[in-house]
Amino acid sequence: MTRTYIFSGVAVITGAGGTGIGAAVAKGFALSGCDRIAITDLNPSSLNNTKEAIHAASPDVRLFVQAGDISDESFVDSFIGAVVSEFGRLDYAVNCAGVLGDALRSTETSTEVFDRINNINYRGSWLCSRAELKQMIKQDPLPSHGPAREPQRGAIVNIASQLGIVGQPGAPAYCASKAAIIAMTRSDAIDYARDGIRVNCVCPGVIETPMTTSSDEVRERLRPAVEIAPMKRMGKPEEVADAVLFLCSTFASFIQGHALVVDGGYIIN
Ligand SMILES: NC(=O)c1ccc[n+]([C@@H]2O[C@H](COP(=O)([O-])OP(=O)(O)OC[C@H]3O[C@@H](n4cnc5c(N)ncnc54)[C@H](O)[C@@H]3O)[C@@H](O)[C@H]2O)c1
Repeated sequence: MTRTYIFSGVAVITGAGGTGIGAAVAKGFALSGCDRIAITDLNPSSLNNTKEAIHAASPDVRLFVQAGDISDESFVDSFIGAVVSEFGRLDYAVNCAGVLGDALRSTETSTEVFDRINNINYRGSWLCSRAELKQMIKQDPLPSHGPAREPQRGAIVNIASQLGIVGQPGAPAYCASKAAIIAMTRSDAIDYARDGIRVNCVCPGVIETPMTTSSDEVRERLRPAVEIAPMKRMGKPEEVADAVLFLCSTFASFIQGHALVVDGGYIIN
């Protein structure tokens, strides 16, 4: 029996442009032997950077690359349809696209700002996972890595946040959008367990990505959270990707509806 991941299916990652968590997940799949990977992001040039990085490190990987807005229902449905046309199926889906927003209390938050954050983070994740589930539910399962494990028809990992579990000053819309992703994950996990589909989420702490490092204001805003966490550092996107790959793999065959916190201990303090 092998002791390494077998990613013989097709992976899809949203928010995969640039140097953030989605890009680390896409590269992680390629380095772990997944040879059919679809990536999307709002930003075509950062998406192209991820494509080039994967091709340079893993030249045998077949990539499907399409830029678009995951808060747009028609884009999401056509993107997932195009992935299935290209690769025939969809096995590991990682819904990572998201936005943080400015530091605003509720009384300072406009309805437009609230809607933008929730349309991308919560509604966008739901649109993606719904399209992914529609494909997964009708495909044959793939064998697992060992005889004691059930075959797997699909695995979805939604990227929530530690801020879906605990609060933070000036982030009501963001925190609520991430709590909604955790609740959605649990509900889908219940509904699709009988189909051999696992649905989980990862709740990152403060991770060193463009979202957290692109401005001094955001770095300053997040400094207390880094200091509260027992490990007292930002996590790396690759450390989140490791957790995501585990949850997608059949090594997580009995893990369902879980919110796996990857935060250097922040929420235990
Ligand atoms: N970095 C952190 O500290 C942290 C902590 C907890 C959760 N998260 C979550 O992790 C996920 C990835 O964030 P990151 O830190 O890698 O940030 P990032 O900004 O590097 O990546 C987010 C990506 O999503 C893309 N995106 C934004 N809106 C989109 C849309 N409408 N359609 C398609 N793509 C869109 C962006 O272009 C970007 O490439 C997000 O959901 C974020 O909320 C991040």
